Amino acid sequence: MELFNVYNLYNVTPVKAQGCSIWDDKGQEYLDMYAGHAVVNIGHSHPKFVAAVTDQMQQMAFVGNMLQSPQQQQLAKRLGKISGYDNYSLFLCSTGAESVENALKLASFHTGRQRVLAFKRGYHGRTSGAGAVTDNASIQSLYNRVHKVVYVDLNDTATLTKELETQKVAACIIEPIQGTGGVHTPSVEFMQTLEKLCHQNGTLLIMDEVQTGFGRTGKFFAHEWAGVHPDLICIGKPMANGLPCAGVMIAPVFEAVKGRLGSTFGGSPIVTAAALSVLDVLEEEKLMANAKAMGEFLKEHIPTSPRIKDVRGKGLMIGIEFREPVAPIRQKLLYDKHIITGSAGMNVIRLLPPLCITQQECYTFINALKSIL
Ligand SMILES: Cc1ncc(COP(=O)(O)O)c(C=O)c1O
Repeated sequence: MELFNVYNLYNVTPVKAQGCSIWDDKGQEYLDMYAGHAVVNIGHSHPKFVAAVTDQMQQMAFVGNMLQSPQQQQLAKRLGKISGYDNYSLFLCSTGAESVENALKLASFHTGRQRVLAFKRGYHGRTSGAGAVTDNASIQSLYNRVHKVVYVDLNDTATLTKELETQKVAACIIEPIQGTGGVHTPSVEFMQTLEKLCHQNGTLLIMDEVQTGFGRTGKFFAHEWAGVHPDLICIGKPMANGLPCAGVMIAPVFEAVKGRLGSTFGGSPIVTAAALSVLDVLEEEKLMANAKAMGEFLKEHIPTSPRIKDVRGKGLMIGIEFREPVAPIRQKLLYDKHIITGSAGMNVIRLLPPLCITQQECYTFINALKSIL
C-alpha cells in the first residue's frame, strides 16, 4: 500500500529535533521557523516534556474516559488559571477540527438554532462542520455544503448586524488572527461589536484559538488583545507540543449533558501529562514575553524591499506578504539557507517559530531573507 498522496512534500527527511533546530538524515541542520504549523511552542524535545511523557508512558498509556482522571482535572484547573477562565469547563478531544465540531454542536444544542456565521478567508479544519465554516471551496465537498453557513467579510459590521438581527444564528466562529487565510487581524472595534451583537441577539461567540493560542501572540489567547470574552474557545495544536491534544473551553451557561459529547482518545494520560508540562514550561521560561519580544524584533528587522508589500501579525505569528508568489523564495530558504517556513496562500510567507526562539536565530532568518532578496 502507498500513502494517500494529499500533502505537498519537500525533499527533506527529518530524523532529530531540538529547540528550534531540526536535523535531516544526512546530518544537515535546519532552523525551524514554522514549529510544525504552530504546534511545537515550547521547542522540540524539551527535557521537561520528554520526561513527563516518558514517565507517564512507563506508568500507564491509556485507560479510556469512563474512569476517574485527576490529571485531566488538574489540566482544566491549570488552564483556567493561566487563561483567566477559571469558571469555564473543559472538554478534551484530539484535533482542532474535532474541537470546532464540538463547539458548533454545543452552540446549536444550546440555542436550538442551526445557522452559523463564519468569516471570509477563515480556516477551521477539514471535517464536516469545520470544513463548512472554512471559506475555501476547494476543500468543501457537497457533504460539507449541507450545513447552513453564511460568510461575512472581516470588519463588515453592517452585514454582520443584518445577519445577527434575524436572531436565527446559533454561533459566530472567528479566528482572532486568521492564520491560513493570510495572517489578517480583525479590528479591536469589530471584535467588540461582534461580542455585543452576539449577546444582544442570543448568538454564541466561538473563538478559534487553535493556531493563535498558548502564548503565540504574546498573550495566552490572542483574543485578549481585543478585550472580548467568547462563550466557547477552541484550542488545539500547541496544547501538548506535538501529541494530539485539543479541547473546547466552555462558559458556565452551558449544561453538560451525559453522552452528548465524547472522544475516545481525548485527554488520554500521555497527552494530558504532556499538556501539563507545556504549561509549566510556558510559565517557567516566560515564553509569552519572549514571543512578544522576538515577534517585535523580527518585524522590525525583516528587510524592506520593493518585493515585499506588507509585514503583519502579532508576536510570533507573522505574515510577510510579497508582490509575487512566495514558493521560489521558500524553496531557496529551505534548500540553500536550511530554514523551514510556512505559507498562507500564494503570496504570504507565514512564520510560526517555537516561542523559545532566540535573537540569534531571528538574525539567521533575517540575514538569509536579505541575501535571497
Ligand atoms: C484556526 C484553526 N482551526 C482549526 C484547525 C484544525 O486543526 P486540526 O488540523 O488539528 O484539525 C486549524 C489547523 O490548521 C486552524 O489553524
